[in-house]
Amino acid sequence: MTRVDGLDKVTGAATYAYEFPTPDVGYVWPVQATIARGRVTEVDGAPALARPGVLAVLDSGNAPRLNTEAQAGPDLFVLQSPEVAYHGQIVAAVVATSLEAAREGAAAVRVSYEQEPHDVVLRFDDERAQVAETVTDGSPGFVEHGDAEGALAAAPVRTEAMYTTPVEHTSPMEPHATIAAWDEDRLTLYNADQGPFMSSQLLAAVFGLDQGAVEVVAEYIGGGFGSKGIPRSPAVLAALAAKHLGRPVKIALTRQQMFQLIPYRAPTIQRIRLGAERDGRLTAIDHEVVQQRSAMAEFADQTGSSTRVMYAAPNIRTTVKTAPLDVLTPAWFRAPGHTPGMFALESAMDELATELEIDPVELRIRNDTGVDPDSGKPFSSRGLVACLREGAARFDWALRDPKPGIRREGRWLVGTGVASAHHPDYVFPSSATARAEADGTFTVRVGAVDIGTGGRTALTQLAADALGIPVERLRLEIGRASLGPAPFAGGSLGTASWGWAVDKACRALLAELDTYGGAVPDGGLEVRADTTEDVELRASFSRHSFGAHFAQVRVDTDTGEIRVDRMLGVFAAGRIVNPKTARSQFVGAMTMGLSMALLEIGEVDPVFGDFANHDFAGYHVAANADVPKLEALWLDEQDDNPNPVRGKGIGELGIVGAAAAVTNAFHHATGQRVRDLPIRVERSR
Ligand code: MOS
Repeated sequence: MTRVDGLDKVTGAATYAYEFPTPDVGYVWPVQATIARGRVTEVDGAPALARPGVLAVLDSGNAPRLNTEAQAGPDLFVLQSPEVAYHGQIVAAVVATSLEAAREGAAAVRVSYEQEPHDVVLRFDDERAQVAETVTDGSPGFVEHGDAEGALAAAPVRTEAMYTTPVEHTSPMEPHATIAAWDEDRLTLYNADQGPFMSSQLLAAVFGLDQGAVEVVAEYIGGGFGSKGIPRSPAVLAALAAKHLGRPVKIALTRQQMFQLIPYRAPTIQRIRLGAERDGRLTAIDHEVVQQRSAMAEFADQTGSSTRVMYAAPNIRTTVKTAPLDVLTPAWFRAPGHTPGMFALESAMDELATELEIDPVELRIRNDTGVDPDSGKPFSSRGLVACLREGAARFDWALRDPKPGIRREGRWLVGTGVASAHHPDYVFPSSATARAEADGTFTVRVGAVDIGTGGRTALTQLAADALGIPVERLRLEIGRASLGPAPFAGGSLGTASWGWAVDKACRALLAELDTYGGAVPDGGLEVRADTTEDVELRASFSRHSFGAHFAQVRVDTDTGEIRVDRMLGVFAAGRIVNPKTARSQFVGAMTMGLSMALLEIGEVDPVFGDFANHDFAGYHVAANADVPKLEALWLDEQDDNPNPVRGKGIGELGIVGAAAAVTNAFHHATGQRVRDLPIRVERSR
C-alpha cells in the first residue's frame, strides 16, 4: 500500500504544526545566551519595545511561573531563573505582530551577564564522571555477568582499543515549530511532536495544570529522530508567551537555532576489551563508556546495552559513565546509545577478526547465542546468523581476500566491511477506539503520530485487516493527545504498540456488532481497547531485532576522498507490515549510518562553549551524491509474539552498526584503522 498521506504531503495539503491558521497570532523570537555559564544580570527590552510591531519582551523577571517541581528535565523550565547553564539557552524572547518584527526586536534586546568559567570538553578521565544510576532503557549504568577482568587476564587472545563518537545533531527536515493558544486554563499546542499524548502529560505537569488540560496536535511531522520525543524549550517558550500576552503565538526555529536549542546525540569515548580463544569464541567483553550529560540533568544513553545481547561471552561487563558539562542536556537520537555503542563493539569485533585471521562474518557466527546473555531468557527470535549469511551470499563475501590495503582501481584503494545490527523490540501499552458508523463506514482513533515513518499507512492497513473491510470504508484519526493514552513514535515501538490496541479495538467492535446481528445500532457503536495487561504477555522472551550491514568503500590515495560504493542491509524484524515504508526506514537509517561514518560532527568550541558549526554548510549530512547503490532487504521471520501485529521495531535497526561496516571497509581498503568518527580526509591518506 502506498502512503495514505503521500499525495497530501507532496501537494502541500498536509498541515504541519506551524501552518494551522491562527487569527491574531503573535510571533516569538528567542534571545539566546552568549555565555556558556553564569547568570543574566539585566535584560534591557526597551530598545526592542520601541520598534514597530513589538508586543512584549519576556525574561525571567516577567515570564509566567512554571511548576519547577515537576518531573521534567530542567531544560524545559524556560525563563524561570537568571541562571545560564549553556551557550544558546533562551534568556529572553520577543513577541511581535510579524516574524520580521520579532526577529528585529530580538536583535535589539540588550542582555548583560555575570560570566563564570565553563567546561564543554568531554574527557575519558574526567574525574567528575560518575557511573549512571540507570541508562535510558532502565538498566543500570554498571552491569557485570561473570568476571570480565579475570577472564581477560586468562584469555589466549586479547584486543583493546578506544573509540570516539562526536556530537551528532538530529537535523529533521521540519525544524521544531509550535503554535500555542490558551483558553482559560486549557492549553492547545500545535507542535512538531513525536508523542502528543505523552507530551500533553508532560506539559500539564510543567504548567501545573490538570491532566487533560493540554491538547497537543501533531497531525503531520517532518521527521524527528528523537528530537521531537518530548516538547523542547521553544515549545514551552511559546506557551509562556501566549499566556503572558493573552493571545496565541507561534514559533519556528531557524536551522541554526536547531543546533543550539535542540538536543543532540551525546559524544562518547569508549574502551572495548575483548578476550577470546584462538578459535574465535569470546571469553570476555569489557565495554567502558564515558559520555557527556549536562550540569543540569542526567541523560545517559544506553551505550552498553547492545553489547550485552550480541554475543555468547560468559563474562560481560558494561560501564556507562556520564561527565557533567556546561552544555544543553543531550537526548535521544535515532537508536540512542545502541548506535555509538555498536560502532565501538562492531569495530572491535573487526579488529579481533583481523588479529585471529578469522573471517569477520564467521567470527560473529561462532559467537551466536540462542539465549540472551544479559537476561538469561531465550530470544523470541534471533535472525543474526541468517542475516549475516544472506548478506554474505549477496555481497560475494566468499570471494573476499581478507588482506587489507591491496585492492587498487587506478588511484583508488577498495575494501569491504561487515557489521551486525541490533535494536530491542519494545512495545508500550496503548489505547484505541473503533467505531461503526450508521452509514457502514468505520472510524478508528488512536493517539499515534506519523513522523514520516509511514505509521499512518501501516495503522490503516492493520485496522482494515482487523475489521475485514476495504480501506475506503475506514477513517483513521491520529495525531492528537485527546485521542487517548498512547506511546510516542520513538524506540521503534510505534506501529507494534498502537497497532495492537487498534487490532484489539477492531476485533472487540466486531464481536459487539455480532450481538446486534451485524447491524449497526442507531447512532453507531463504539468500543475502546487498552493493551496495558496484554503487553505483559511478552515478558517470557528476550525480544530484539537483528541484522547485518555490508559496505564497500573506495579511498583516493592522492586526495584521501572516501566514497561508499555500495551498502547492503539484511534485517530480521518479524513481520513487515508495509514493505514500501519499511524499506524507506531501513534505507534512511543506513544513510544516516553512512553519514555518521564519514561526515557528521558537531565541533565543540571550548573557548565560547558553543558549536563552531551550526548549519548545513558546516555540519554535513549525507546528500544524494554521497549515497550509492544502497539495498535493504529482510528475511521472513516468525517471531513468538502475543502481539497480533507480529512485527518487531524497524525504525532504528538500520542505523545500528552501519557506521562500523563503513569504517571496517575503510580498514580493509587502506590497512588503516580509524577509531574516531567521522573519518576525516586528513585521517584517510
Ligand atoms: Mo527515537 S531516537 O526513539 O525517536
